[in-house]
Amino acid sequence: KLPTSCDFTVFGGTGDLAMRKLLPALYSRDLEGHLPADTRIIGVSRSELDDDGYRAEVRAALHRFVEPERLDETVVERLLGRLHHLCLDAHDPEGWHLLHALLKDRPHEEETIRVFYLAVAPVIFGPTCNRLADLGLADERARVVMEKPIGHDLESSREVNDAVGDVFDEKQIFRIDHYLGKESVQNLLVTRFANTFLEPLWSSRWVDHVQITAAETVGVGTRGGYYDHAGAMRDMLQNHLLQLLCLVAMEPPTFVGRENVRDEKLKVLQALRPLTPADVDRLTVRGQYGAGLVDGAPAAGYNEDLGEHVPEGGSRTETFVALRAEVQNWRWAGVPFYLRTGKRMSTRYSEIVVVFKQPPHEMFPHATGPVVGNRLHIRVQPDEGMQLLVTAKEPGPGGIRLRPVSLDLSYATTFAERSPDAYERLLMDVVRGDPTLFMRRDEVEAAWTWVAPILETWAASHEAPKRYPAGTSGPYASAALLERDGRSWQEPD
Ligand code: BG6
Repeated sequence: KLPTSCDFTVFGGTGDLAMRKLLPALYSRDLEGHLPADTRIIGVSRSELDDDGYRAEVRAALHRFVEPERLDETVVERLLGRLHHLCLDAHDPEGWHLLHALLKDRPHEEETIRVFYLAVAPVIFGPTCNRLADLGLADERARVVMEKPIGHDLESSREVNDAVGDVFDEKQIFRIDHYLGKESVQNLLVTRFANTFLEPLWSSRWVDHVQITAAETVGVGTRGGYYDHAGAMRDMLQNHLLQLLCLVAMEPPTFVGRENVRDEKLKVLQALRPLTPADVDRLTVRGQYGAGLVDGAPAAGYNEDLGEHVPEGGSRTETFVALRAEVQNWRWAGVPFYLRTGKRMSTRYSEIVVVFKQPPHEMFPHATGPVVGNRLHIRVQPDEGMQLLVTAKEPGPGGIRLRPVSLDLSYATTFAERSPDAYERLLMDVVRGDPTLFMRRDEVEAAWTWVAPILETWAASHEAPKRYPAGTSGPYASAALLERDGRSWQEPD
């Protein structure tokens, strides 16, 4: 149940995430009447902006990032009326006192839920939480939201988690992974566990391998300062892709609720086979985009995109990763999970493909056409939906001709309801205090533990990431990773 009054404070309130995602998501909830009636939104940043200046920036962002057909000027004005801006430098007590005064100065102050969204660098998470505690703002009504990546590696993530954990209880901490808020990702749980026909097939007995792809056409954009220290492994794979892997591979929980889904995901992360340095050389591929053509338009290479952030001698940061993982348990022994993600690829799409084994015996020796069915595609975005590829007989008199056809579920055509953006769902879960779709500390640490040897081996290697032209499906080595196993990536049509 939603509370009736809420103060939503965003540290990094003028940043890319706030403007592109958080404020449009809050607008959408307001539009649908789902925002607690008495909600204030307080943007905190180092910009010297007063409330009106901030409102003007947010108005422009809403016009840019909300779908035009959903823009209702009355609601825009209502949302802008909820906004405040505070100029705050982490080391300057003055700004903190202003924040304290603002949060205290409202009707129903003692019943108000306080959300503190940390859309800033992880090194500031701990100090920010300490200041909130010093000011008496970290009581049981407070919730803190942390954006990924949590830390830079296992050790720094522990430091961040310790620092935040010194102030807030685990149940007040919401580590966001927006992939978990996507409709199609939540539907994966429902499809797996509300239907009986998939479960008997969902194991090494019938599954040949699983592919998980998150491909983007965008480059690094204006986020070079952050991205060049993160790279695709920390930015996407350690969190989003491993979370998807967990949802595909986890055991059925007793019911879908607060802790038990997270317990099951944790077991998957702990069952990932650790990679030795020799495995890292063999089973992982790093790439970096060079200049190329994206959607028919020329696109610059990564170093050029970095602009002022390019390190001397050029960057060695990966913008693409592909790897082969294995889940060492009874269900999945021997089944490869191929994961890949990259920027500036040919098409934007995120998809999970479960490839089933071929029939054990060839029943149609005289048939023409390929047996290429036996795949379940779970389309995370865009065009959310599911396709089951089956091999069918092409109608016609003479002989049997096989043809792969698909049983299609398209969200857009099946459901009249619009699919809300992931942040809309997740932000309301924070306000409601429901942590099911957030990463627990032990999950984040298990994920770092697994990626650590990969990052370390790459860091020690003299090899640079393999170059791929913008607008392609990554370096050739990524295709070769599967070809060696007699398989290939499923590219979208
Ligand atoms: C973010 C990454 O977590 O996810 C970005 O930091 C990336 O680099 C984004 O572009 C992709 O999200 P989506 O929802 O567009 O797939």
